[in-house]
Formats: sequence, structure tokens, C-alpha cells
Amino acid sequence: MFLQRITLFLIFITCLFFPTIRGKLHSHANGKQWLPMSRIWLPPSPSPEVVSPNANGPFVFNVKSFGAVGDGVSDDTEAFKLAWDAACHAEESGTLFVPKGHIFMIQSTTFTGPCNSKLTFKVDGTIWPPDGPDSWPLSSRKRQWLVFYRINGMLMQGSGLIDGRGEKWWNLSYKSHKGANGAKQLGPGDRPVAIRFFESSNLRVEGLKIKNSPKFHFRFDECQNVHVEKLIIKSPALSPNTDGIHIENTTNVNIHNSVISNGDDCVSVGAGCYNVDIRNITCGPSHGISIGSLGNYNSRACVSNITVSDSIIKHSDNGVRIKTWQGGRGAVSKVVFNNIQMDTVRNPIIIDQYYCPSKNCHNQSYAVSVSNVSYSNIKGTYDARSPPMRFACSDSVPCTNLTLSEVELLPAAHSQGKILTNPFCWKVYGTVQTLTTPHVLCLLEGNQLTLKPRDVVWC
Ligand SMILES: *[C@@H]1O[C@H](CO)[C@@H](O)[C@H](O)[C@H]1NC(C)=O
Ligand SMILES: *[C@@H]1O[C@H](CO)[C@@H](O)[C@H](O)[C@H]1NC(C)=O
Ligand SMILES: *[C@@H]1O[C@H](CO)[C@@H](O)[C@H](O)[C@H]1NC(C)=O
Ligand SMILES: *[C@@H]1O[C@H](CO)[C@@H](O)[C@H](O)[C@H]1NC(C)=O
Ligand SMILES: *[C@@H]1O[C@H](CO)[C@@H](O)[C@H](O)[C@H]1NC(C)=O
Ligand SMILES: *[C@@H]1O[C@H](CO)[C@@H](O)[C@H](O)[C@H]1NC(C)=O
Ligand SMILES: *[C@@H]1O[C@H](CO)[C@@H](O)[C@H](O)[C@H]1NC(C)=O
Repeated sequence: MFLQRITLFLIFITCLFFPTIRGKLHSHANGKQWLPMSRIWLPPSPSPEVVSPNANGPFVFNVKSFGAVGDGVSDDTEAFKLAWDAACHAEESGTLFVPKGHIFMIQSTTFTGPCNSKLTFKVDGTIWPPDGPDSWPLSSRKRQWLVFYRINGMLMQGSGLIDGRGEKWWNLSYKSHKGANGAKQLGPGDRPVAIRFFESSNLRVEGLKIKNSPKFHFRFDECQNVHVEKLIIKSPALSPNTDGIHIENTTNVNIHNSVISNGDDCVSVGAGCYNVDIRNITCGPSHGISIGSLGNYNSRACVSNITVSDSIIKHSDNGVRIKTWQGGRGAVSKVVFNNIQMDTVRNPIIIDQYYCPSKNCHNQSYAVSVSNVSYSNIKGTYDARSPPMRFACSDSVPCTNLTLSEVELLPAAHSQGKILTNPFCWKVYGTVQTLTTPHVLCLLEGNQLTLKPRDVVWC
């Protein structure tokens, strides 16, 4: 047995380095292309009952064939890793398949590429993590659950559900978890992102349902060419930091045709994002669609060519928002908000260059600049406790070249108390191209910087 394993291992190593031999070996393997590899780690005896009709192809790797139990309790992490390795190293596009009718419990895991060719991660069943911080091993304090790393070309899709089981994480308070008796515990700062794509490219995520993430539902950082399509993302309005889709240092992104309700931004665009098209999103209850926050800890942030269009934002704290910290560097420019329906939104249009959630920030002269932002065809109702438009720009790096056209915002019918209708403007330059409701009379003309241009860090 031992010798046999050694022999197989040598064959495997040889195969890794000599693809031609691998091809030959596979052609003798009668359609079980992953046989030589999987033998080494675990001898799966594919049980016929788990093979569903459309999950049969030679390059489909059903996690149940790799030992996944799918009872929602057993730890299926190893089976997923084996299925991933098989799919990733398949000769042709491999599919990791998660069958329906089961709940698979997976620990925090990184699925690493590069893979041989384009990969499909097909979730028809349910995937969830261990239930809450007490059942997460302390060693997995990595603030992330499922990570896809260094993948070039992957489709994630399916009719299934990704359930982040965030309820117990949301309840953690900073107070009760601050090192009681020096005992290590996972605290609110450790809340994991549900799905992270990192340093990957040519990704498509389509049709999945995902709910109750402990933190962001999706995070893409350092990625290129990302297409997100027809997702349903759902968490309670009071779940903290449960952004739907957060992107950072990521370029050429489409986020289309999705329905998101959660306790933070539906989509948030962080530093280093270019060429982003967000379209046909139904967002709310939530905190709206945001660019930012940018420039915290005096960091440099560049964001450009972002379009948000054909969307509905309802029962949300904000509609379309740009938020930057004081003291940052860099620029947000070329942003288009077009054709957005607002339904009872507290701040439908907002730029805040004084972003400071703790309310305890001192004024600084540097700021991430905001320019070339256009708002067109933005209509609907706002919760009149706040002004319908708020442009709070920096004293030294004002907002420049804002354009408004066809903006019509009315107080929501049930608005109570003092109704605020006047837009708020501070140091904002721009033009109103068509008459707006309410009138915006507070935009300044021209483009003024009080900092010397050489002190402003453009991008
Ligand atoms: C979270 O806290 C709320 C209020 O204290 C409580 O009602 C709820 O049951 C808790 N949820 C979980 C999953 O612990
Ligand atoms: C984005 O890229 C910049 C510059 O390479 C880096 O300093 C920053 O840490 C990155 N941010 C993230 C979240 O990866
Ligand atoms: C917008 O997205 C919704 C939800 O996915 C979809 O049903 C609808 O067909 C999309 N509309 C267009 C014009 O694509
Ligand atoms: C702006 O982004 C869109 C994708 O949203 C892209 O098609 C277009 O080429 C970009 N424009 C520039 C100047 O890069
Ligand atoms: C910071 O500047 C703004 C705008 O000039 C001003 O309204 C605010 O009072 C200042 N805050 C502090 C803490 O000085
Ligand atoms: C103002 O921004 C618009 C796009 O929103 C752009 O077409 C125009 O050239 C800009 N004008 C200046 C003076 O920068
Ligand atoms: C605003 O847009 C105009 C026209 O495209 C461009 O010349 C200018 O550099 C842009 N301003 C910034 C700060 O990006």
C-alpha cells in the first residue's frame, strides 16, 4: 500500500511537470480524468446516488464524490478543497459542483489558482460557515470566509444559497469583547467577509443568492474584469457593515441586474477603482450606493470613470453618495449618476468630504478632490428629515464641475416634523443644466482651488 502510494505520487509529480504524459495517462483513464490525483489524497468512491443528471460530465467534480456530507453540521472543508484541486487541474474547464438538497458547512478556506483553464464554481445547494464566532477556530482570525486567490477565469453561479450565518457576529459588541481577562476571543473587528476575490481576473458571478454575511457579502480587491450579474443579496437593515458588493483596487467592473437589501452600502467603490458600470440595481433598505469612503489615515485614493444608472434606491439612509475623509489625497472624477429612482431615501444625493463616523475628526487642509460628477434624471421622494441634496465639500479642495439635470425630489408623503427642502451646499462648484426640484441655487460658478495646484495630488 505504502509503495503503491509512493508510485502514484511519483506519477503525479511527473504529470504535473510533463503535460504530454498527463494527456496520455488521462486518455487511458476512461473518463475519470482526476483519478491519478485524487487517489493520492483520498480515495473517493463516487456513490451513484449523488450524481445528478446535469452534473455528470467528465470535468464535473461533485463535492459529494470527494467525501462531503452536506448535513449542515459535518465539516466539508476538506472535500471542497479536494474537489477544487481536481477542477482546477482538470485538462479542460472544470466544474466544482455543489448539489442541491444539501447544506455544506465549510470553514474559512482559500481556493487558490492559477488553474489550468476557466473554472466553474456551481452552487445549487446551500453553503454555510460554522455558526458564529464561538464556533470559528481562533486560528482562522483572517476576517474572511471563502477566498478565491489568483484565479484567472472563473464563473461562479448556480441556483443555490450562500448563507453567511452572520446573526451571532452582528451581536458582538466592542465593549464585551475587549480582552476580558486577557482571554482571546473573536471580536466585532474580526467579522469575516463572506466571499472575497483577491488578485484575480476575468471573473463572472451570476445568479446566486447570498444572505446574512457577518460583514461584506462580496469583496473584490486587486481584480480586473469582473462581471456580476443577477445576484440577490439579503441581510437585515440593522446588520452592521454588511455591504453587498465592495470593490477596491479593481478595474473594469460591471455590476448589473441585482437586488440588494442590507445594513450598509449596496455597492461600495473603494480606492483604486476605474471603469465601473453599475446598472439596474434595486437597492434597499440599505445605505445606498457609495463611492468611498476614501482617504482615511491620509491615504491616497484614485477613483475614476464610474457610472451608476437605471437603478432604484428605496428606504435607505443615502441614495448616491461620495464620501471622503479629511486629510486624504487623490481624486474622484468622471462619475455619472443617471436614471435613478428614489423612494423615501434620507439623503438621495450626497457628497461628504468631511466623512467621520466617529464624529471626532479634526479639520485638515488636504482632501481627496471630487470633480466631474454628473447627476441626471434622478427622481422620487426623500425622507425630509434631511435636505434632498447635500454637498459638503472641502474648504481647500472644493468639489468642482458638478452638473445637475432633470433632478426632481419631493418630500415623502409621510415625512413628519420639520420638512427640509433646501439643498445644502458648501464649497461646491458646478452648473444646473435644467430646472431642478427643489431649485438648486447654491452651486458656485467657476472652478476654484484655494490650495496651490502643485499641492493637490491628482491621479
Ligand atoms: C442578538 O441580540 C438580540 C437582541 O439582544 C437577540 O434578540 C437575538 O436573539 C440575538 N441573536 C443571536 C443570533 O444571538
Ligand atoms: C490598493 O493599492 C494600494 C497601492 O498599491 C495599496 O497601498 C493598498 O493597500 C491597496 N488596498 C487594498 C485594499 O488592497
Ligand atoms: C433588471 O434586473 C432585474 C432583477 O435581476 C431583472 O428581472 C430585469 O429583467 C432587469 N432589467 C433589465 C432591463 O435588464
Ligand atoms: C469607462 O468605463 C467603461 C466601462 O464602464 C468603459 O467601457 C470605458 O471604456 C471607460 N472609459 C475610459 C475612457 O476608459
Ligand atoms: C471644520 O470645517 C467646517 C467647514 O469649514 C466647519 O463647519 C466645522 O465647524 C469645522 N470643524 C472643526 C472641528 O473645526
Ligand atoms: C465637466 O464634467 C463633464 C462630465 O461630467 C465633462 O464633460 C466636462 O468636460 C467637464 N468640464 C470641465 C471644464 O472640466
Ligand atoms: C474633468 O473632465 C475634463 C474633460 O473630460 C478633463 O479635461 C479634466 O481633466 C477633468 N478633471 C479632472 C479633475 O479629472
